[in-house]
Amino acid sequence: MNNPLRIGFIGGGFITRFHIQSLVQVRDCVVAGVADMSMDAAESAAALAQSIGVGPEARAFESAEAIAADPEVDALWVCAPNHARIPVLEGIRDGAMNRAEPLKGICAEKPLARTLAEALEVQALGKEIGAPTGYLEDMLFAPSLVRGREVLWRRGAANAGRPYLARASEEHGGPHSAWFWKKETAGGGVLLDMMCHSIEAARWMLTEPGAPRDSLTPIEVSATCANLKWIQPKYSAQLSEKFGGEVDWAADPTEDFARATVKWRTEDGQILLTETSSSWSYVGAGLRHAFQLLGPEYSMEVDMADAGVQVFFSREVTGDAGEDLVEKQNAEQGQMPLIPDEPAHYGYSGENRHFVDAFLGRTESSLTFDDGVEVMRLLMAAYQSSAEGRTIDPSDPSLESYAPFS
Ligand SMILES: NC(=O)c1ccc[n+]([C@@H]2O[C@H](COP(=O)([O-])OP(=O)(O)OC[C@H]3O[C@@H](n4cnc5c(N)ncnc54)[C@H](O)[C@@H]3O)[C@@H](O)[C@H]2O)c1
Repeated sequence: MNNPLRIGFIGGGFITRFHIQSLVQVRDCVVAGVADMSMDAAESAAALAQSIGVGPEARAFESAEAIAADPEVDALWVCAPNHARIPVLEGIRDGAMNRAEPLKGICAEKPLARTLAEALEVQALGKEIGAPTGYLEDMLFAPSLVRGREVLWRRGAANAGRPYLARASEEHGGPHSAWFWKKETAGGGVLLDMMCHSIEAARWMLTEPGAPRDSLTPIEVSATCANLKWIQPKYSAQLSEKFGGEVDWAADPTEDFARATVKWRTEDGQILLTETSSSWSYVGAGLRHAFQLLGPEYSMEVDMADAGVQVFFSREVTGDAGEDLVEKQNAEQGQMPLIPDEPAHYGYSGENRHFVDAFLGRTESSLTFDDGVEVMRLLMAAYQSSAEGRTIDPSDPSLESYAPFS
């Protein structure tokens, strides 16, 4: 391996562990280290990178500033919770001032921040640091969607005309860390956490491969948020118990269900629609990721839980609860789907392959902080639509100061 990209992760939790596992399938990179406020988390993620051979010398760091200043680190993946985006980017900026060689790139996990105002600040910090940026939206690299979209556009759209409707939904039973359930740290509920995936995947499916983002203009957003499950006393008590009293959803909820319809206009005036829905109130075998792309003479369906393997365990088979079959697994008995290679299936391997290539200068980054800002604009329009019961024009500049929960 000649001059691999030496990656530093900031935040050593769930998603960083997924990224690290995906790097087994990515050439020309190595994990140089992991920074976390908790040294235990940083050390544990660095140990994972060592143990699977993607970071033989991975080290633990105590802060974003320290890892950004380290000459053995070339690029950073920002994977801390949503409320830490700005302090982490500020830490990177301060650390990077001490470098002889500039950083080769900075990626940030979805959502880009908690509000559009914050996302614009993250974008500005990215520009100030001056490194190429990446917005981590794994669904745009999921092999089933990449391949389905490519074939549909090449055979269907080329013959019969462009697709006009995209549907995307992502649902599970609720996130694993307390900070997701609190508006101060997460910025919102499932709309922010998961509709960022669905709304961007739906837009991308409808966009002609190779055409820029602004070939489609979002012109109207209408949305509904709701609290369906976790607001019920029995379930809010369960949440509170699970997180040691840290989460008081009954008194201070965000939302565990959201749906949005976005109307888009093409450059030649055709109107297209995306329909997205997200929930933390879904109970099934694990994650439910479903996508459809429809045009005048064709359609595509993707059900990501169907990876071609089902296993069955009778009631005589008991064991510990785990996530060894699928992410957000809800049961250990009965008919269960199995995803053989989750890091590849959900797009993390493809995503990281792309950003390693981009930061090594072999290709342009196809998703940057600018794209993360545009996703956030639609999410804020969706929150406002739900709160005010009306359709919102996402180009309205007042969204730049809209704060759904203040
Ligand atoms: N692409 C996806 O599908 C996907 C999936 C899960 C999470 N995410 C995103 O990744 C981010 C992290 O989520 P997670 O599930 O890994 O959370 P997590 O709770 O599992 O882990 C977060 C880690 O960040 C650390 N941390 C907190 N503040 C920090 C700071 N200022 N500097 C450094 N480390 C800090 C915590 O100690 C913890 O170890 C979130 O923004 C989330 O939306 C994306």
